[in-house]
Amino acid sequence: MGILFDEGKQTFSISTKCSTYQFMLDPHGFLLHLYYGKRISGNAGYLLKYLDRGFSGNPACVVNDRTFSMDVLPQELPAWGSGDFRSPAFVVEKEDGTRSVDLRYVTHTIRTGKYGLPGLPAVYVNEDDTAESETLEIVLKDSVLSLEVHLLYGVLPELDVITRAIQVRNKGAETVYLDKLLPASLDFITGEYDLLTFHGRHTMERLVQRMTIGYSEERIGSRRGASSHQHNPMLVIAEKETTDTFGDCYAMQFVYSGGFQAEALKDQFGTTRVQIGLQEEGFHYPVATGETFTSPEVILSFSRDGFDKLSHNLHDLIRDHICRGKFKNRPRPVLVNSWEGSLWNIDKNSLLSLAREAKGIGADMLVVDDGWFGNRDDDNSSLGDWYANEKKLGGTLGSLIEEVNRIGLKYGLWFEPEMISEQSRLYEMHPDWALQIPGRVPIRGRNQLVLDFSRKEVRDYIYDAICAILDSGNIEYIKWDYNRSIFDVYSEAADHQGRVLYDYMLGVYEFLENLTNQYPDVLIEGCSGGGGRYDAGMLYYTPQIWTSDNTDPIDRMLIQYGTSFGYPASTLAAHVSKSPNEQTGRVTPISTRGIAAMYGSFGYELDLALLTEEEKQEAREQIATYHRYEDLILSGDYYRLSDPAKDAFCGWSFVAKDGTEALVSAVILRLCSNDEIFYVKPKGLKSGCIYMEEETGDCYDADLLMSAGLPLPKEAGEHRAYQFHFILQPE
Ligand code: GLA
Repeated sequence: MGILFDEGKQTFSISTKCSTYQFMLDPHGFLLHLYYGKRISGNAGYLLKYLDRGFSGNPACVVNDRTFSMDVLPQELPAWGSGDFRSPAFVVEKEDGTRSVDLRYVTHTIRTGKYGLPGLPAVYVNEDDTAESETLEIVLKDSVLSLEVHLLYGVLPELDVITRAIQVRNKGAETVYLDKLLPASLDFITGEYDLLTFHGRHTMERLVQRMTIGYSEERIGSRRGASSHQHNPMLVIAEKETTDTFGDCYAMQFVYSGGFQAEALKDQFGTTRVQIGLQEEGFHYPVATGETFTSPEVILSFSRDGFDKLSHNLHDLIRDHICRGKFKNRPRPVLVNSWEGSLWNIDKNSLLSLAREAKGIGADMLVVDDGWFGNRDDDNSSLGDWYANEKKLGGTLGSLIEEVNRIGLKYGLWFEPEMISEQSRLYEMHPDWALQIPGRVPIRGRNQLVLDFSRKEVRDYIYDAICAILDSGNIEYIKWDYNRSIFDVYSEAADHQGRVLYDYMLGVYEFLENLTNQYPDVLIEGCSGGGGRYDAGMLYYTPQIWTSDNTDPIDRMLIQYGTSFGYPASTLAAHVSKSPNEQTGRVTPISTRGIAAMYGSFGYELDLALLTEEEKQEAREQIATYHRYEDLILSGDYYRLSDPAKDAFCGWSFVAKDGTEALVSAVILRLCSNDEIFYVKPKGLKSGCIYMEEETGDCYDADLLMSAGLPLPKEAGEHRAYQFHFILQPE
């Protein structure tokens, strides 16, 4: 396992437990990709065939050899200017508009440990597993531009994970502009593939789309300045027959929270190319003489056994090598959030009575959402004015927190640090701090503008304001929201506007890095109108994210199902809300809402006083149940047991890594009269063993359960849900 360079065959092989990634250094100094897939020990160089192909040009270095064309050969970093007309991963422009780069190998190093990326979130290794991980750094050079490109590869062999990032160093005399940079581009010489993407919209995020990669260029991405509700920066490439439990598949996950772009195509000779990286429009990044540009990284993973295994690789990686801080492997507080129950209509009395109700059902924390600061009574004002509204709170924030703590609850608070309302003191003082284009009236989103987080003085001001709030009381949780997209890209401070969106994201990361260092005991939950910035970049700072503004448990099945492909349950925040549901008006039993929300970090988001005594008792029991299973939910292996877009129920399970227990859940999605029986088939149990279902005491043969399933009860009533806890029996 690990990284090897075969001198004789001039081939780099990166091997993990089950996969090999191989490419060669060709005699002309080009890096040609050979293979990525099932672990191999041989050399895949023979796969390359050199033929004279019309209209595919030949680089000068091959002289009269018309069989050598970069337009046909598989590449490690397809760059515009080499003669490859397929979608490039790297485009460089000179001041005069010339776009061309010719990258040739200079040197490489292989070292122990995984590289880090300055100022950017990245996969990290823990102290005790440094020896396992390795880095390959390859230096390429364009001698005309004196531009060095460093290709970074990291490997975590046990997790079947390889990472890729790129650094660009300008050693020439002229500024160059990066116009396109996709740090990972995969060329599959053979095979037919499907592409799975995760699309959606506000309140319906990460729905699964599966399409054939054909002779066209498919492109998804986000031009919104955030990774977005509309597409997630995560792809799955699958062989045609691949299912959850069978077949070869690959993941590409971009560790970045700004705009992104992914492309997939089959070229004229059947090679499949799939790429992901920075979004092209709005990216024209100047790299001046002596400067280095560092790209975010892409996570690659491979599974021979279908999507479940691929998800496990990513879940383990994100839990242990992306998420950081005190809460990464710890139970999270069960919280009661004020938003859906009260919106902005909060005051001291309503908050304290919510806190008492929350305590009554056994919750751990009260989260005061929007509305506690400035003159914020709706979404038209006060963003940027991060001082407590003492009239509403009936005194200082500190005294309210003390009262909540006295009730026996922790206290959490909502912020939207990157935003500014035009109706705010901050805007009166610093209108230029909002991103807006001189001479144009900015486009509003939720009636607010975006603060220019590419500027240090802007970040510093907001940072100090937030620290003053955090220091004013015992605040143990922050919800970090971001409620619009970026349209007007112009920063007064930038030497070129083509850098602003990237520098903005670096600014957000720097802010979060400082905040998490200064307040290591505070849990931060990410949010962007729910799941509009649900990505591995944010998860480096915020170990959980508000999955969606849609809390309808039936819609949530689709959202949580799609999210599960790339992200572990520990990162999903899921709450029980009121019925009829705020977003859909759908009526569901509280038991179903509880089971649907035991899918991650659990909580409640409704006016608890409106629950009946029986419902409160049920909530109390749900919290106790959640605490019983939270380790399993947060750290077990997650399995999808049905497809909610097709099947009549949504089933999923969490199985302890050692197979000793499993929590199987199912929510009925569709009912009809005199219907067939639905069987839920658990996965991941220990073959040859017996499991007892805790509530009934019934014992089951694991293999029979996994092959034939467990019949779900047949009960009249919409949207019932069931939970089964299986315990491994001693032999
Ligand atoms: C966003 C969030 C909600 C809530 C509101 C407050 O929409 O996703 O959960 O915090 O903002 O304005």
